[in-house]
Amino acid sequence: MIEDIKKIWSEIESFAEKEIEEIEYFRIKLLGKKGVITGLFKDFKQLPPEQKKELGKQLNQLKNFAQERINEAKENAELGKKGFKKVEKPDLSKPANFIGVGSRHPVSIVRNQINTIFSRLGYVISEGPEIEDDWHNFTALNFPENHPARDMQDTFFIEKSPDIALRTHTSSVQVRVMKNSKPPIRTISPGRVFRNEAISARAHCIFHQVEGLYIDKDVSFADLKQTLYYFAQEMFGSGTKIRLRPSFFPFTEPSAEMDVSCNICKDKGCPICKYSGWIEVLGCGMVDPKVLENCNIDSKKYSGFAFGMGIERIVLNKYHINDLRLFFENDERFLKQFEAVI
Ligand code: DAH
Repeated sequence: MIEDIKKIWSEIESFAEKEIEEIEYFRIKLLGKKGVITGLFKDFKQLPPEQKKELGKQLNQLKNFAQERINEAKENAELGKKGFKKVEKPDLSKPANFIGVGSRHPVSIVRNQINTIFSRLGYVISEGPEIEDDWHNFTALNFPENHPARDMQDTFFIEKSPDIALRTHTSSVQVRVMKNSKPPIRTISPGRVFRNEAISARAHCIFHQVEGLYIDKDVSFADLKQTLYYFAQEMFGSGTKIRLRPSFFPFTEPSAEMDVSCNICKDKGCPICKYSGWIEVLGCGMVDPKVLENCNIDSKKYSGFAFGMGIERIVLNKYHINDLRLFFENDERFLKQFEAVI
């Protein structure tokens, strides 16, 4: 009898989902008046009492198992008829599914770090539109009428309205902030910018900048230098040296470009700093009085400084990445490397 019980048990176990009629047929085969399990119960009565105890238990378990499986199969068949799919019962003993941890994009990591560093100095974040008009992007910033940046070669213009372009730098946001608020102003403006460049390892037509602006009474170049020095220590590590080289931008006078000492080779020279010991990081200067006046700020009363940096360039140097295109490809193998950085 034990063998029979085992055989029927495995038959029930392997009973696959079927139509209602077939399930009913299966029920009659097992539990009907002439069913095999019913038959076993009849045989059971003839057994000597010493065998009855154990076999009785097993027979009852078999009967319950058959009944449960048949009920379940019928339920699923009913659901199937109504167009529902049967739901597998979850296996609660299984290990939990692994939830993959996402990672921040390296550009976002560095942008957030820049935001944090300047917010400690009291700078607030401001934003402006990516689709900008000529006045905010060029004219208010003192770009002469025939400046090469205004050329179609460098700027994406909207074909039907030549006054509208994709902003070429976040300096346009400083114009908007100055027009819309009164000094003292201390703001940084992170955002995307667009230039009509051929895409290569060193250049892209979309990239990110952060613009900084500080306007108040008696702001001097020394304030600018100290602010940028603080930024360099925080961003690239204490002991980082800075150097300011004279430069030209239409909206600042005087203008400079800032280099930081190369932290990778510690001034010895390496491919990242092109063996110069210095890495160029940003452009800066004292806001040209003409720009202040364009934005309705009294240049006799107020002065200020501005700076602008490309985020990608900082990321390249910080993480020793040699191809800008990686930032836009969303390749998991690249992005996963930044999982540990918050
Ligand atoms: N807008 C400049 C650029 O895209 C960067 C820049 C230079 C911003 C000097 C400034 C500045 O505010 O003072 O190259």
